[in-house]
Amino acid sequence: MSGPNTDYDPVEVTPLQAEEVQRMREEALAAVEAATDLAELKQARLDHAGDRSPLALANREIGALPPQARKEAGQRVGQARGAVNQAIKAREAVLEAEHEERMLAVETVDVTLPARRTHRGSRHPLTTAADLIADIFVAMGWEVAEGPVVEAEWLNFDALNLGADHPARTMQDTFWTEPADHHLVLRTHTSPVQARTMLTQEPPIYVVCPGRVFRTDEYDATHSPMFHQVEGLVVDEGITMAHLKGTLDHFATAMFGEGIDTRFRPSYFPFTEPSAEVDLRCFVCKGVPGKVEVCRTCKGEGWIEWGGCGVVNPRVLVAAGIDPERYTGFAFGMGIDRTLMFRTGASDLRDFFEGDVRFSSSFGTEI
Ligand code: PHE
Repeated sequence: MSGPNTDYDPVEVTPLQAEEVQRMREEALAAVEAATDLAELKQARLDHAGDRSPLALANREIGALPPQARKEAGQRVGQARGAVNQAIKAREAVLEAEHEERMLAVETVDVTLPARRTHRGSRHPLTTAADLIADIFVAMGWEVAEGPVVEAEWLNFDALNLGADHPARTMQDTFWTEPADHHLVLRTHTSPVQARTMLTQEPPIYVVCPGRVFRTDEYDATHSPMFHQVEGLVVDEGITMAHLKGTLDHFATAMFGEGIDTRFRPSYFPFTEPSAEVDLRCFVCKGVPGKVEVCRTCKGEGWIEWGGCGVVNPRVLVAAGIDPERYTGFAFGMGIDRTLMFRTGASDLRDFFEGDVRFSSSFGTEI
């Protein structure tokens, strides 16, 4: 073990000489002052105030001095180290403030800059039309029902009084799916949702069902193998044809405004009795003599078919397990695409299906 060095050894204590300490102190202060950001200051702190900095090393040498020299050397080094630490703190405050200011400047949002132009998406006009229609009925307390587009043959036909050999089956140009023994079809109308609702709910029933339907139709300005219907079904005590007429009048007015001309034509559907077809005044020729004869939209009729309706056939109620002595009902199925064409004056049904945004975007989010 070697004890403290009591001899005066000028080589060993050089770091503790006043000029040397002064030099270290100045060097340290210069480095701190020269730091232009917090990372540089961190390095200066390591170099000049860290455990291995010249001043820290000098401090360790104090013990090697003769006792009478220690106090003075200790003060010198201690003051130097204190001054360096203070300078670091002061510089740190300045640099931090600068940093903050710079970040504020960099992150400033110029609210006066013009926005980048992007195309706003919107929902398809048929979707908004279906929603609008559903809203009209929901406002009257009805519910919205849904069913699958690939439907059981039994629900699409049989449950609606359209037995296998019923002549009216051929009226519906059906897409059958394979294999045939699965007895699945692409639903030809939204009426199977009637059957589904009656099988699962007790009267009173008030439902609308907007949805896609499929028929092997030609694709032209007024026909498409895929189109949209909205089904309505009411089953309650004391329901009559008058309720049906009143409901459809309200529906027509809500869609097309006061003064819309409609007419009921006697018709036939196996699932309603009596049945009617509902027509709207042709929106192109308005049935005006001289125009109607050459009108291509209504083909000279002056009227355009909107959909079918009627009083629910008691046989359908029985098939769904509903007592026809107690309950009666009405049902309707209207074309949504036609409704939209009427509302907007669009003359070609295909425009709705071909996905050209120049067409659809003109509808915006409302129709
Ligand atoms: N489902 C019939 C059709 O598509 C329309 C209809 C619905 C008729 C409800 C009467 C009652 O042609």
